[in-house]
Amino acid sequence: MKKIEAIIRTDKLEDLKESLTKAGYAKGMTVSQVLGYGNQRGFAEYVRGKKVIPALLTKVKAEIVIQDAAVENVIEEICNAVRTGEVGDGKIFITPIEDVVRIRTGERGGDAI
Ligand SMILES: Nc1ncnc2c1ncn2[C@@H]1O[C@H](COP(=O)(O)OP(=O)(O)OP(=O)(O)O)[C@@H](O)[C@H]1O
Ligand SMILES: [Mg+2]
Repeated sequence: MKKIEAIIRTDKLEDLKESLTKAGYAKGMTVSQVLGYGNQRGFAEYVRGKKVIPALLTKVKAEIVIQDAAVENVIEEICNAVRTGEVGDGKIFITPIEDVVRIRTGERGGDAI
């Protein structure tokens, strides 16, 4: 199992949910509002060499735990759903998940997703 953490533009959350639901991938999702900055330090134009204190922009973080076999498809779905081609489109982080517990039933691992 893997956890996909997608940090995206706030106005792309609905597109992300729709595409993953249609494709039948995300059986569950956790969403938070986050603050962050990327390579442009939170500015649309970053003047090289000029010292700029990073500005924190509001983004949405969507966390999705999925089976290993679905990872590449989910990444593709997310990119297609949220990409504008402009800076600030976001990033996807992928980490291994050791185990999952469905509290109601006690199911573990892939069965619990
Ligand atoms: N290396 C990083 N570590 C943690 N969070 C990051 C990192 N890079 C980006 N983020 C998060 O992702 C958000 C969007 O980043 P952004 O899309 O601007 O990345 P970028 O590398 O600057 O790419 P681009 O050049 O396309 O803008 C940031 O506001 C921040 O929350
Ligand atoms: Mg950026």
